[in-house]
Amino acid sequence: MAEVMLKDNHFLVSQTDAHGKIIFANADFVAISGYSLDELIGKSHNIVRHPDMPKAAFKQLWDTIKAGKVWTGFVKNKTKSGDHYWVYATIIESQSCHGSKAYLSARRKAFANEIAEADALYKTMG
Ligand SMILES: Cc1cc2nc3c(=O)[nH]c(=O)nc-3n(C[C@H](O)[C@H](O)[C@H](O)COP(=O)(O)O)c2cc1C
Repeated sequence: MAEVMLKDNHFLVSQTDAHGKIIFANADFVAISGYSLDELIGKSHNIVRHPDMPKAAFKQLWDTIKAGKVWTGFVKNKTKSGDHYWVYATIIESQSCHGSKAYLSARRKAFANEIAEADALYKTMG
C-alpha cells in the first residue's frame, strides 16, 4: 500500500477520553485519515493503528501519559483505504469540554531520515 506524504504545514490533532476513545479530530487529521469526522468520533484511537507498529510502543505511550508526563515519538498510521503515513506525535494530558480527563495528540510530518530510523527500531521491537 502507498505512503501518504504529509505537507510541511500539516498538523494533525486529535483528543481522546481517558480510555483512548476519540472525542475530537481537526480537519487535517480527518483529511489524512480518509475517514469522516462522524466515523472517528467515539471510536477507539486504534482505528488508525498500523499493524507494523509494535505493541511495546503503545505500552510506553500509555505508561507515560498516565503518569502525567509528555510522550513524544514516531507513529506509523493506517488510513481508511489501507495506505499509511508517518508522524511525529506529542501527547499530553488535557481536559475534555466537560471537565473530564482527556489526552491530546498533535502531530507533524515525519521526515525521511526520521522514518528510516523509527522503522528500523520498530522492526526490532515486539
Ligand atoms: C491522544 C492519543 C492519541 C493517539 N493516537 C494514536 C495514533 O495516531 N495511532 C495509533 O495507532 N494509536 C494512537 N494512540 C494509541 C491508541 O490508543 C492505542 O493504544 C494503539 O492504537 C494500540 O491499539 P491497542 O491498544 O488496541 O493495541 C493514541 C492514544 C492517545 C491517548
